[in-house]
Amino acid sequence: MQDLRSLRKRAKLWHLVGGIEMTVSEPNWSSFAPLNRIGAGFFRIFAVIGLIAVYPAAIAYGNGGFEGVASCAGSTCHGRAEGNGAVVRQDEIATWQEPSSVSGAHSRAYSVLAGRRGQQIASSLGLGPATQATECLGCHATFAPSAQRGPRFQLTDGVGCESCHGAAEGWLASHYARPATHTSNVADGLTPLENPQVRANVCLDCHYGSEKTGQFVSHDMMAAGHPRVSFELDLFSALQQHHDIDDDYTARKRRPNAVRFWAVGQAEAVRRATSLYAQPKFGMEGAFPQLYFFDCHSCHRQIQDSDNRRLTFETNPGRPIPFGNPPFNDENIIMLSAVAGALVPGQAEAFRDASRDFHRSMGSGNARQSAQQLAQRARALSNALSQRAYIDADAFRVIEIIGGRATRPRFTDYSGAVQSVMAIDTLLNGLVTDGRVTPGAAAGIRANINRAYAAVEEPNGFKPADFRTALASATTAIRRLR
Ligand code: HEC
Ligand code: HEC
Ligand code: HEC
Ligand code: HEC
Repeated sequence: MQDLRSLRKRAKLWHLVGGIEMTVSEPNWSSFAPLNRIGAGFFRIFAVIGLIAVYPAAIAYGNGGFEGVASCAGSTCHGRAEGNGAVVRQDEIATWQEPSSVSGAHSRAYSVLAGRRGQQIASSLGLGPATQATECLGCHATFAPSAQRGPRFQLTDGVGCESCHGAAEGWLASHYARPATHTSNVADGLTPLENPQVRANVCLDCHYGSEKTGQFVSHDMMAAGHPRVSFELDLFSALQQHHDIDDDYTARKRRPNAVRFWAVGQAEAVRRATSLYAQPKFGMEGAFPQLYFFDCHSCHRQIQDSDNRRLTFETNPGRPIPFGNPPFNDENIIMLSAVAGALVPGQAEAFRDASRDFHRSMGSGNARQSAQQLAQRARALSNALSQRAYIDADAFRVIEIIGGRATRPRFTDYSGAVQSVMAIDTLLNGLVTDGRVTPGAAAGIRANINRAYAAVEEPNGFKPADFRTALASATTAIRRLR
């Protein structure tokens, strides 16, 4: 099962970054060494004030030309075998294409379309070869319009450097030498991925869906065999990381804060889901609502016709929907409610009300309007979370609310539970990285975190009550580290 496999990989990352279990067998994890160094407390910086301007939410491809991965590959550029460059590692391509690691997933993205599963999905949907289907290429390649493809551009590169860093025509020749600065590069079209709102939107295009060509993965694709898409900004950023966060990086950009990335990631995910859902062309599929937006296991369950009613679902205090209604997948809504309560209390009540209204509207016919209102609330929270100053205790406060008495009853469904485990995982990593918690102390509570992971390993056997117990014990253990 896909979920199990990727959760295992993620769990491994946690052990590694926490400096706990160094016996992991993947060959290419050396790129995480710098994280360990930081974990030892080298660069401890508190409370960075948000200075960044709010970048337009949906970044269009613009008119710049896409030059292709080959144009980054020179041995004096990003094609070195060792990450020993003076400013950046320069072995970024090696990490991006390491076939046996999670960090190599993007270079595989095109070739998986040609594999058995890819072909099966596309042929079930009558799309012809997946490697030529717009419906697939939008996310499985740098799908630049043909007029913008440079001479070395190749679709077969998969999700190449420019999918995230932006079309390179405007900055390729100048970005690495004086007088270029990060600011001038951004003015020339480089995407400022150090900005959490910008990065979240780049990733969500493919790791949730977007309005752009070929970037929507629908329930019919899932039914045809596409794996579920699950995402968390901070954790996934670490999983594909190919740069060092060293003095040089922090001087050019700034020291990333795990809580900021995690929190903004949640807000942008809510905004993305609700604003896509609000549009009829995404929100509906024929006569039915687009089921991609809803909680999968609410429908994919068994029915027992016995005299004693046995519900396969639990009622959920955050979700006032009528009996028998499929719930909108609220994994990020739950997280954002929690983070607002901990970090932006002035907006928390309004967000909670808007999310209740949204769930309630599913039974009434105003769903689209309520979705738009919720998207606006998420937008406001994203801005606040992006700009606020962060202090050490924030991660503890967020974990406390996620695992606390008020939020726990909302974990009635699998996807929300997975999201909360990823949250605890990534926030604890942040605490280790910031030197607030020692790797040894984090190792001491590993069994508790592993129990929470174990409780979400098998989606079809998910037991909410067991999960909540595991979550509570992980939260208690983390509280003791405070
Ligand atoms: C909205 C973006 C998006 C679209 C559109 C999309 N995919 Fe995917 N696909 C993904 C993501 C993201 C993953 C990885 C899921 C994960 O592991 O979290 C994935 C995973 C896969 C996998 C499994 C890869 C593996 O390594 O096991 C296959 C196969 C696949 N997609 C095929 C297709 C096909 C065929 C189409 C077109 C019908 C398609 N995809 C359309 C985003 C997309
Ligand atoms: C999935 C998105 C993604 C892809 C694909 C990707 N990168 Fe990155 N890259 C990032 C993110 C996110 C960062 C860290 C944030 C930042 O830019 O400062 C980063 C950082 C970097 C850095 C360090 C920047 C600095 O200021 O120190 C370099 C160099 C780099 N990437 C090169 C590449 C190259 C070359 C490729 C293609 C082989 C590539 N990247 C592919 C997302 C991506
Ligand atoms: C153009 C589309 C696209 C963009 C943009 C993109 N990804 Fe991906 N990503 C994919 C696809 C498709 C896969 C699955 C490939 C496969 O498994 O074969 C994937 C896989 C991954 C994986 C491996 C997941 C797993 O469970 O193995 C990570 C981690 C990841 N992406 C992180 C990111 C981050 C972080 C960003 C933003 C900085 C990002 N991606 C942006 C398309 C994209
Ligand atoms: C509102 C109910 C509903 C929701 C929500 C829903 N599905 Fe479905 N799903 C269905 C129905 C109905 C079918 C068609 C089943 C049939 O033909 O017997 C189906 C079919 C499928 C199939 C093919 C099943 C088979 O037996 O071959 C898969 C896989 C699937 N859905 C995955 C998902 C995923 C993943 C999600 C969440 C993103 C999801 N579904 C959400 C109702 C739902």
